[in-house]
Amino acid sequence: MLKIAVLGCGRIGRMHAENIAAHPRASLAGVFDIHRRAADEVGSKLGTTVFNSAEDALSSDAVDAVLIATSTPTHADFIEKAVTANKPMLCEKPIDLSLERVQRCAKAIGATEVPIMLGFVRRFDPGHRAAREAIRAGDIGDLHQVVITSRDPGMPPVAYTEASGGIFRDMTIHDFDMARFILGEEVTEVSAVGSRLVDPPLMERLGDYDTVTVVLTTSSGKQCIINNSRQAVYGYDQRVEALGTKGMVVSENRRPNMTTLHRADFTGKGAPLLNFFIDRYAEAFSAEISAFVDAIEAGKSPEVGFEDGRQALILAEAAFKSAAEGRTVKTSEIG
Ligand SMILES: NC(=O)c1ccc[n+]([C@@H]2O[C@H](COP(=O)([O-])OP(=O)(O)OC[C@H]3O[C@@H](n4cnc5c(N)ncnc54)[C@H](O)[C@@H]3O)[C@@H](O)[C@H]2O)c1
Repeated sequence: MLKIAVLGCGRIGRMHAENIAAHPRASLAGVFDIHRRAADEVGSKLGTTVFNSAEDALSSDAVDAVLIATSTPTHADFIEKAVTANKPMLCEKPIDLSLERVQRCAKAIGATEVPIMLGFVRRFDPGHRAAREAIRAGDIGDLHQVVITSRDPGMPPVAYTEASGGIFRDMTIHDFDMARFILGEEVTEVSAVGSRLVDPPLMERLGDYDTVTVVLTTSSGKQCIINNSRQAVYGYDQRVEALGTKGMVVSENRRPNMTTLHRADFTGKGAPLLNFFIDRYAEAFSAEISAFVDAIEAGKSPEVGFEDGRQALILAEAAFKSAAEGRTVKTSEIG
């Protein structure tokens, strides 16, 4: 059993704590949050230790590894602290909103052998993963083009948007990682357009966008088109499509059930799309914990790590630059 402590008991930390507690090869070694009440709630619900500080968790012999689910600006500090404490970690995305801070963190941890896994959960979605495996197996021939559709059901709270770092660092970051995962090649050029259509005054005030399209190109010419909207009134729209010389593979949206309704005047889906990420990616969040446990038990590097987090942020920076300057940006211009 891998004993994992969870730092941060907010929206996602609670879910991770529950997943760890339910995992057959992991146990919840305790939780910590600067808001004591949040930690106490999780501690009493799941019957686990509530640490008095992150340092207590990191130095405890009862803790084999940590899951960092605190607010984004704390991630780089906790990564550095966990490396110093020699505790393997699964850290939520992003490493930081600032590439400069990510580079400093990379320097601080050096070529550490302490395992660092980054929470790009969509890699563990059974559908997206099966699409990648089909591509690797040659099922669609040579890969030419990928289309990633990723739309949120509605705008997040204003305070969240204000602190998010902008759509490319907050939302598209998942799709940048998915693009790298599916393409299997590094992206060399980024071309992005952004619009303010859902909440123009807020987007104008923040210098942000709520509707974006990004085209990524690899050195061999493979393309990935990402489209994001902060508002898809029909639910959380998550699809990945890949075209190759022999055909196409599609990872479709998920619904609570696949029942369809057929009547004289209507044929269609009965159930709406799953509402948001905690429901849509529930299996992926559990599989992510399994992948972390597997890597630590096998003494192998987790399959998605610090460098993947850094590369995704480079693509986000390039996208902002491209949208602002109205030109294609080479990734070599960033960082
Ligand atoms: N992988 C995904 O799909 C996904 C989805 C949502 C959020 N996230 C990421 O997870 C992180 C948390 O997001 P959330 O939505 O749960 O936020 P949240 O605000 O609900 O929770 C964050 C928690 O961290 C605590 N915290 C802040 N600083 C701390 C510190 N120094 N020590 C201990 N606790 C501290 C806060 O008190 C809060 O309870 C963010 O980085 C976010 O980007 C990832």
